[in-house]
Amino acid sequence: MTPEQQSAAAATICEAAPIVPVLVVKDAAKAEGLAKALVKGGLPALEVTLRTDAALDVIREMAAVPGGMVGAGTLLNAGDVERAKAAGATFGVSPGSTADVIDACIANELPLLPGAVTATEVMALLDRGYTIQKFFPAEAAGGAPVLKGFSSPLPQVRFCPTGGVSLANAGSYLSLPNVICAGGSWVAPSDAVDAEDWDVITKLASDAAALPR
Ligand code: 3PG
Repeated sequence: MTPEQQSAAAATICEAAPIVPVLVVKDAAKAEGLAKALVKGGLPALEVTLRTDAALDVIREMAAVPGGMVGAGTLLNAGDVERAKAAGATFGVSPGSTADVIDACIANELPLLPGAVTATEVMALLDRGYTIQKFFPAEAAGGAPVLKGFSSPLPQVRFCPTGGVSLANAGSYLSLPNVICAGGSWVAPSDAVDAEDWDVITKLASDAAALPR
């Protein structure tokens, strides 16, 4: 799957809703309920970070939930890509971009949303064919003004800013023409997940899904 094809698939995923939940799930027993709550609230694209021992099982469970599109986040190397694909991830997200991860996504037919934070990194990914990129860590790197700055010289690239994005500041990103969606963990707070308080999560998701863009 070429990078161009990967970005076309990533665009479809990112266009499904304004926000992609970034999920850190410690217990696979919570996966089904969490995915159903988020999808019910209007957020179908779900990024499960490979930061817990349970992450691959979480992907397997969530992949079976109707209406969801489950991806793997925190892809750091080719092994992560292979394991994510085998678990049923339909897209991948990486905090930065390495040839190892990119080559593995090409070989394993996994659409990648690759991370970039400087104009040089954005250009390197564009050279490879990636027109949809993750901007990370968004707030720490300067936030929406940086993406506004990229829009003049690099208009062919659209971004999913992630890192420090909240309901309060998401609008500053989503109003930009080169922002396709944003990612954030606030829609799935760990206390609500632990307590299986799915109504709270569906409400957070529906508030996020209603953000204008
Ligand atoms: C991450 O990879 O952790 C994401 O960028 C989520 O960041 P957030 O917790 O600030 O939303």
